[in-house]
Amino acid sequence: MTLLPFPDAVHVRAPGKINVYLGVGDRHDDGYHALATVFQAVSLYEDVIARPSDDFSIVVKGAVDPASVPLDDRNLAMRAAKLLATATGHDGGVALELRKSVPVAGGMGGGSADAAAALLACDALWGTGLSSARLHELATRLGADVPFALHGGTAVGTGRGDQLNPALARGRFDWVLVTSDEGLSTPVIYQRLDEQRARGEALADDPPLSLDVPIPVLQALRAGDPHSLAACMHNDLESPALEERPVLEEIIREGLGAGALSGIVSGSGPTVAFLCDTPESARYVQDQLEAQGREALHVHGPVSGARILSA
Ligand code: C5P
Repeated sequence: MTLLPFPDAVHVRAPGKINVYLGVGDRHDDGYHALATVFQAVSLYEDVIARPSDDFSIVVKGAVDPASVPLDDRNLAMRAAKLLATATGHDGGVALELRKSVPVAGGMGGGSADAAAALLACDALWGTGLSSARLHELATRLGADVPFALHGGTAVGTGRGDQLNPALARGRFDWVLVTSDEGLSTPVIYQRLDEQRARGEALADDPPLSLDVPIPVLQALRAGDPHSLAACMHNDLESPALEERPVLEEIIREGLGAGALSGIVSGSGPTVAFLCDTPESARYVQDQLEAQGREALHVHGPVSGARILSA
């Protein structure tokens, strides 16, 4: 695509994610844990609009409580814009508008999607023209999930979750997400997992010996078979998330009772993701959960990563 040197606005869309499989290893000295994970990008999106400005600012719109989103340097999109400016020597700013649909602190990488979208949007707005390898490198510095939000699709993540390899996934997987009004802190959930393991709980005597994604997970994705995938979905962060938020266990029971193939806490939670065998069964599970007073969304994956919608 040929972009004009100075567009008035750049609109980028980036997806939220589900960790279909998440194996957590030991904590390293940098505070991060070794991971073996499979991400799938799903059709719940963050939209970021970047407009020229002399300084850096953010406004938040969308289906979230704006008060729950910081507007300063704690915001990953703000950090992304400033990192790109520093890395490229660009001396202007940007006014970012975040239209959020992914739950805040929900375990679906919403903040990471904002950061990925902001990188791409500012790169186009400022005409800095970074290669995808360089954008990936900046994304890695912003957070473990940011590279995947750029990448999208279905991918195996190793290292801190930021070393990505595409995974073949056929067809479409239907998911029902149950969101919570109150988020969970990712560092707290990792900390709880360490504590559970130290107490001899949560697979303490059986941490993954080799941190690999099990072959059946990759086979099920390749076959596009939700039944096989449902049988091998797993999340090591589920146990600490359930300890922190016991109602999630009830929600998982409700979704399974409504006919979902499997239910799993997404990332560090508290969003619960239910895999369903068809779009129709997902709509039924969604209706049943809503009838029980839950906030439920029907999404599908895989979808593409951050992309420019207009410039
Ligand atoms: O990279 P991100 O900002 O998303 O990570 C948030 C926190 O989650 C980290 O500061 C760390 O406490 C925890 N984390 C971890 N191991 C990972 C990813 C995240 O311990 N691989």
